[in-house]
This record gives sequence, structure tokens and C-alpha cells, in this order.
Amino acid sequence: MSGFESGGVFNGKTAAFNTNRDGAYPPRLQSLADNAVASISLREQHMAELLSADHPLPFVEILADNFLAMRGVHYQMLQAVAERYPVALHCVGMSVGSEVNSAYLMRVALMAKELNAISVSDHLSLSQLPGAVVHDLLPICYQEPVISGICANIKRIQSQLEVPFLLENVSRYTTYRDDNIQEGELFHRLHDATGVGMLLDVNNVYVTAHNLNLDAELLLLSYPRQAVCQYHLAGHQSRPPLLVDTHGSHVCAEVWELYLKAIAHFGGHPTIIEWDNDIPPLVELLTSADRAQHLMTPVAGVA
Ligand SMILES: [Fe+2]
Repeated sequence: MSGFESGGVFNGKTAAFNTNRDGAYPPRLQSLADNAVASISLREQHMAELLSADHPLPFVEILADNFLAMRGVHYQMLQAVAERYPVALHCVGMSVGSEVNSAYLMRVALMAKELNAISVSDHLSLSQLPGAVVHDLLPICYQEPVISGICANIKRIQSQLEVPFLLENVSRYTTYRDDNIQEGELFHRLHDATGVGMLLDVNNVYVTAHNLNLDAELLLLSYPRQAVCQYHLAGHQSRPPLLVDTHGSHVCAEVWELYLKAIAHFGGHPTIIEWDNDIPPLVELLTSADRAQHLMTPVAGVA
């Protein structure tokens, strides 16, 4: 039994996002939202190990795109993982900033149902262009005319999911010449119009602030407090003059520091350690998750 199912740290908090179709708060997400718990994003090479022994994981994040085309033994292993641990489904192909692909959305919705996922998340970016999938998280324009289109996409996604949809801030490397809305304000507008929750990636805040010459703490505090309900932590690389969101190293000291500020402002929320390149042994990821858990624990009981 996972720590989550066995109780964990409940504090009765209620997040202010409301994203399923009938307005009810899904009990499994409510339970997770009430817990300031930390875990890892599942990587294929760790699946057998996770299934071979009981690890005290409160939940795991699964990158949906890695499994959408699979129906064999790997998918069966994934289902076995989902039977043991609650699953938060994460995507990179929804492309809320351009046009949502119907077939992709339906496949993700089916997977969320099959794995009994507690939430589905993707990024405030675009990854599909007319006739092409770019397999990257390209920056959208931060301009007034794009907001209604993004809201329509979010509502369409919400209408197909039976669990809440969360939107994540991406690492940014440049801006468009005519951008005239700040990222925090954009998330406020999207949350106000659709109720969409926010997956706050603290490393992405740090990388964006560095690359765009912003104050990381001010950027962090600009996001809608009532929308934030999950966190990501990851490593980045310095490639002067930029920082690059590589997900291939440990979370750095500055990002841990920013994470503490996030917890102080937004509260403790389910947190995932992301690691996609040069993936270390499972125990190293679990150690990072333990550190996040430790940092959140003092505020877990704060409403
Ligand atoms: Fe992330």
C-alpha cells in the first residue's frame, strides 16, 4: 500500500480549481491535493524495480506520450504500476497554444481512464503546427488575442477528461516582439476563465527568470495562488548566456531555495522530481523526492 492510500498528511485544504465536467471534486485528487507529498516521474528503466518491491511512493507521474503507442508488455507493466500507485498523467503534445489534435486528446483521455489517473497536465506552449508535430514545447505569444483560443482549447480538453487538467509553465528562452502580457497575468486570466489548475515547475521559473533577465522570486509570486496545486522540480544546464532546461542533473541549490519560497507562498502541494536524460538509479531520484518531502513537511498542516 502506498503512503498516500494509507493516510499520509491530510490537512483539509481545498484547492480553488474545479476542472471536471460536473463540478464535483474528484475524491482521489482531493486526497492527493490535501497531502503535501513528493515523488518521481516514472521512467521505463525503473518500472521493474518499482514493481519488484514496495516503495513508499504516494503517487507517480507518468509521461503519457511515452506509452501512447504501446499495447504490449510495457503497457501491462504500466497498468501494474497504476494499480500499485496513484498516477498523475503528464503530457507534452496537447499544444494548448495552437490546435488540440482530436485523436491525441482522445488517446490521452482513454489512458487517463485506464490508469485511473488523478489528474492530467500539459504545458502552456505549442507542440503542433498545421501538418506537423514538433516534439518540443515552443513558446506561445503572450498577447491579448491568443487568450480566447487557449481558453477554448483548455475547455475542450476539460470536456474530454474526467479528471482535472493542469497547465504547467515552461522554460522560456526568448520573447516575441509584440508580447504585452506577463506570464503570471496570463495564468491568472486562464484560471479565471476556465478554472484550470497550475502545475508550477520551479526549475522552469528559475530558468526563465535567468534567460529573460527577470527576478525569479517576483516571477514565482506572480502566478495565481489559488490555481497552484502541483510542483515540478528538475535540473538544468548552464550554456552561457542561457540556462537550458535539460532534466539531466540534480536540482540545484538555487532551485531548492526557490522551492522553499514557493511552499511558503503557495503551500505544500504534490511534488514531482523530473529526470529525463542521463537518468540515475531509482534510489537517487527517491532521495531527491525525500528532500522535497522533508522541505514540505513543516507546512503540511498549514491551511
Ligand atoms: Fe516540468
